[in-house]
Amino acid sequence: METQLYQLRAELIRFMMAYKFALEEVNTKINILQQEFQYMHDYNPIEHVKSRVKSPESILKKIRKKEIPLSMPEIQDNIRDIAGIRINCSFTKDIYRISQMLEDQKDITVIQKKDYIVNPKPNGYRSLHLIIQIPIFMSDRVKNVFVEIQIRTIAMDFWASLEHKIYYKYNKDIPERLKAELADAASSATELDREMESIHQEINEIKQQTGPLSDQDEEMIFPIDLLREIVDNK
Ligand code: GTP
Ligand code: MG
Repeated sequence: METQLYQLRAELIRFMMAYKFALEEVNTKINILQQEFQYMHDYNPIEHVKSRVKSPESILKKIRKKEIPLSMPEIQDNIRDIAGIRINCSFTKDIYRISQMLEDQKDITVIQKKDYIVNPKPNGYRSLHLIIQIPIFMSDRVKNVFVEIQIRTIAMDFWASLEHKIYYKYNKDIPERLKAELADAASSATELDREMESIHQEINEIKQQTGPLSDQDEEMIFPIDLLREIVDNK
């Protein structure tokens, strides 16, 4: 029995590694999108990216709560947020842009999409949630791994982390007065997002008249003299 447990634990480590690799894959994708977007649009659509592999304790808790059999295929199919990524965007519009760019990638399969921005939760929670699947190339097999991606603005994130703290502080039973205050704060956050985006839009219009001023990586800039020589000799 004891040996079996140790064996199971060793297999579980290998199981967890796939999720770590999946996060690395998706993080690279996000990083590329971010850099390219920055160049094309001359601003950074992504403020911050955070990723985590769910802790073994939380996985076990969820197995108990959802009454999932203790087998790797069952865990794999039923717990889809073992690998989780949170992207904080500058503006609401960017949430949809980033999401679309990820959805359009050939090796990403969108399994589920929940739009809590168009349809906020009753408490005021807003975010775009994707469950995707991505292939991971291991030494002896290809594994399709679920990744949960939450995309939101900084204001939405600020609200969500406060709400999360209060939720646990009151052991999931938030007093009515606080609930109302949270709902108020959620609409202020929505209003702030709207105002910030509108200011950004105005600045963009001015910028378009004066042309972009992006500073680029030195090593990617072709010397103009050499370019002229080549173009002129044609
Ligand atoms: P789990 O709660 O993970 O079992 O998933 P679910 O089926 O309820 O999915 P959903 O997409 O609604 O939520 C997934 C995750 O989003 C949660 O684990 C939280 O991280 C986050 N989330 C969802 N609702 C809320 C909310 O009301 N407040 C906060 N702070 N976070 C939320
Ligand atoms: Mg979750």
